[in-house]
Amino acid sequence: SVLVLDFGSQYTQLIARRTRELGIYSEILPYNTTPETIREHNPGAIILSGGPTSVYDENAILPHDGIFSLGIPILGICYGLQAIAKHFGGKVASSLKQEFGRAKILVKRDDNHESMLFRNIPDSDVWMSHGDKVVRLPEGFRITASSENSEMCAFESSGSKGALKIYALQFHPEVQHSLYGKQLLSNFLIDIAGIKPDWSSKSFIEHQIEDIRQKAGKETVICGISGGVDSTVAAVLVSRAIGKQLHCVFVDNGLLRKNEAEKVMSFLKPLGLRVTLADASDLFLNRLKSVASPEKKRKIIGRTFIQVFEEHMNQEKFLVQGTLYPDVIESVSVKGPSETIKSHHNVGGLPKRMKLKLIEPLRELFKDEVRAVGRELGIAEDILMRHPFPGPGLAVRVLGSLTRERLDILREADEIYIEELKSSGLYQQVWQAFSVLLPVQSVGVMGDKRTYENVLALRAVESTDGMTADWAQLPHDFLARVSNRIINEVRGINRVAYDISSKPPATIEWE
Ligand code: XMP
Repeated sequence: SVLVLDFGSQYTQLIARRTRELGIYSEILPYNTTPETIREHNPGAIILSGGPTSVYDENAILPHDGIFSLGIPILGICYGLQAIAKHFGGKVASSLKQEFGRAKILVKRDDNHESMLFRNIPDSDVWMSHGDKVVRLPEGFRITASSENSEMCAFESSGSKGALKIYALQFHPEVQHSLYGKQLLSNFLIDIAGIKPDWSSKSFIEHQIEDIRQKAGKETVICGISGGVDSTVAAVLVSRAIGKQLHCVFVDNGLLRKNEAEKVMSFLKPLGLRVTLADASDLFLNRLKSVASPEKKRKIIGRTFIQVFEEHMNQEKFLVQGTLYPDVIESVSVKGPSETIKSHHNVGGLPKRMKLKLIEPLRELFKDEVRAVGRELGIAEDILMRHPFPGPGLAVRVLGSLTRERLDILREADEIYIEELKSSGLYQQVWQAFSVLLPVQSVGVMGDKRTYENVLALRAVESTDGMTADWAQLPHDFLARVSNRIINEVRGINRVAYDISSKPPATIEWE
């Protein structure tokens, strides 16, 4: 395995992810992990991440000196390079020209010393993001690549220090824009450190099962299931570890898509989960009666969800959450009061007074890795590839006052839209698609009769993380077919519009 010591870079997880792509298990530990702890983990290599501080700051965060004499190969990236330079007596200075973004490196090719790290790597583009740079090379090191702005853009221990196997890069090989970054990491981990690639979704599952068993012991564990990918994979993984000690609750808030509760229950049952379906639709819908304000709706739904969930608890000590890595970075990197755009339903989590300890087996993974784990666990493809669905459900898609009748109109229309997307092979091409029922009536004509009915908006977006999004350019003939079917088949809709706004300035949902 490889140990990544984290100096606070926004890319630290990406390093871990790239190593997993190479089939190598990685763990991230804090920058100041002691040499003893490192030895206990017995890693084949250590990577020092980037970080936002400067090695000469008064409170500079530096690694333990002892890590450099463990005899384990070390690769320092960006801040990691500067920490290496400082430790071995080089000099780091703040650069007049900061270097952000793309830069071209020239690999030093010298007949006597070909750098193993740069084997098979041509002069090529890399991704830089630094203010400080090394201005004097530490003794016993040699330069292996330069860029226009930093002569000492990569260096490594050599000569009498060669056996230390210490390598340093000013740029970020873990970022996609570093064209040969993955090759470089592979050179370091596999060729130099000699690590055997044997990590896979399967071994991840085995590790997690062990961890979850240790953590939970004999205690019971609860999990709120939403029907989405993350909570499903998390729950199945935990149930593989502790079986019937896990109790799942699926809350039907009356705001789900057509037949959703049955669908979810029927795909969960064969997965061996113990699930309670909490039908609280009356409670939710009564509380939401004639509430039109989007924020009020969200608050009522959030509060009611907690109440219903609590009613189904039975002295469990642990709560399973399908938190993914992007949720983690977002919640730690966003500091200070930022304006509430929407009160997201599951972000605050459950109240502290519940005193539940968390089990978050997916917290190191990205979405596609979660899907791979889900596949390995035997979860069906159409569940793993579902679009995201917001916690407040259709409440934020029936604009204005909510009534059962309006919810049903939306359900029927949305079912047609999604069915058509799937049968045209477009469902997987967009990030998310759904329908919105507008609080607007429009005049139409049907069979020589005047109609005065609802307007429905169709939305489909392309995105990678939901933070920004572009409206999807669905084919006109496809939109024509969907519009035609909805107006003909769904009572109460006589006009369909397609939403062509991007986020920002719009958001993905309408409320
Ligand atoms: P917006 O509308 O904020 O949506 O651009 C971004 C993504 O988040 C989903 N969304 C939610 N997801 N709880 C959730 O779990 C919520 O309260 C919530 N509100 C919006 C939305 O569907 C989109 O994928």
